Amino acid sequence: SAAEKGGFDYFMLKEIAEQPQAIADTLLGRLTEHGEIRLDEVRLTDQDLRDVDKIFIVACGTSYHAGLVAKYAIEHWTRIPCEVELASEFRYRDPVLDRSTLVVAISQSGETMDTLMALRHAKDQKARVLAICNTNGSTIPRESDAVLYTHGGPEIAVASTKAFLTQVVACYLIGLHLAQVRGIKYADEVGAVVAQLQEMPDKLRALLDRMDPVRALARDLASAGTVLFIGRHVGYPVALEGALKLKELAYMHAEGFAAGELKHGPISLIDHGTPVVCVVPSPAGRGMLHDKIVSNIQEVRARGARTIVIAEDGDEAVLPYADHVISVPRTPTLLAPLVTTVPLQVLACEIAAARGHDVDQPRNLAKSVTVE
Ligand code: G6P
Repeated sequence: SAAEKGGFDYFMLKEIAEQPQAIADTLLGRLTEHGEIRLDEVRLTDQDLRDVDKIFIVACGTSYHAGLVAKYAIEHWTRIPCEVELASEFRYRDPVLDRSTLVVAISQSGETMDTLMALRHAKDQKARVLAICNTNGSTIPRESDAVLYTHGGPEIAVASTKAFLTQVVACYLIGLHLAQVRGIKYADEVGAVVAQLQEMPDKLRALLDRMDPVRALARDLASAGTVLFIGRHVGYPVALEGALKLKELAYMHAEGFAAGELKHGPISLIDHGTPVVCVVPSPAGRGMLHDKIVSNIQEVRARGARTIVIAEDGDEAVLPYADHVISVPRTPTLLAPLVTTVPLQVLACEIAAARGHDVDQPRNLAKSVTVE
């Protein structure tokens, strides 16, 4: 009913709007005033966590994309190698697992059969399993050695939104906690991350207040045949997630690419007017990331693409090559997926609505897939 949807047309829009609160709830009680992480509920001892020499993240769908984002942050902060794998592939390829392997199973529902089977396989091989889950008492956390609940509240729409953001936040907490426990020199950078996380709910509220141009753009793109998404670094999984949302909801052909791979094939897909959504990292970030993607945007535009650029406020370097700019609040590179994903959720939802689809119940999809 309309009341259940809190005045929104769809549960998905309601859940998109709930993201600031959902993130605040994921953080609640887990950050100290001294910029440290407290995860007392995670029943792995500090010694267990010090012994970890390899991390595997296993998940499906949108939760897998959260894992892909997490890899960048966890490896950067902890220096522990971290692999991310589709749960449905993991156990069939005989992964190398032992007591010092930490397997992180990410699942909104806690009932996804592929993820459950992957974690059972990991346990059989003596790995330690930590679940990141949104559903209290569900099977995946029950069978894991430890659990970090996302506390995002129930997610009704089939396409995942707030669960994704809270999973990413939970992964950041685990990465920071591991760094802390292992005595990795708490760089200024990491203390600053905690402060940035605390500001995130307000930042997201401000972002959600300026989605009107995204809605207008959605109406415009509703008749496109295909939409491509490109990104680098953490912007790459964001591009994958943007494309997945569009497939799920709008039943359109959509694909996400690592921008650096364009030249190895995908650039041949670009034709006159092909919409390409470009996820741009902060110009303030380290390395050449920002410059590299600006040149990727130039390349696709030179071949006729219609460029839709998700960029930080005040990023003027992208303006000459952007047919549309969707600006997002300034955010350090590793945390940027929390802001850059949001306009892509709104875009997919609004394109689907414009095409007349049932946004909350897309054809052929289920909220939780309990078969292998
Ligand atoms: C289904 C849902 C997706 C979800 C995936 C994994 O395919 O439609 O939205 O990302 O399952 O679900 P989980 O509950 O394990 O996160």
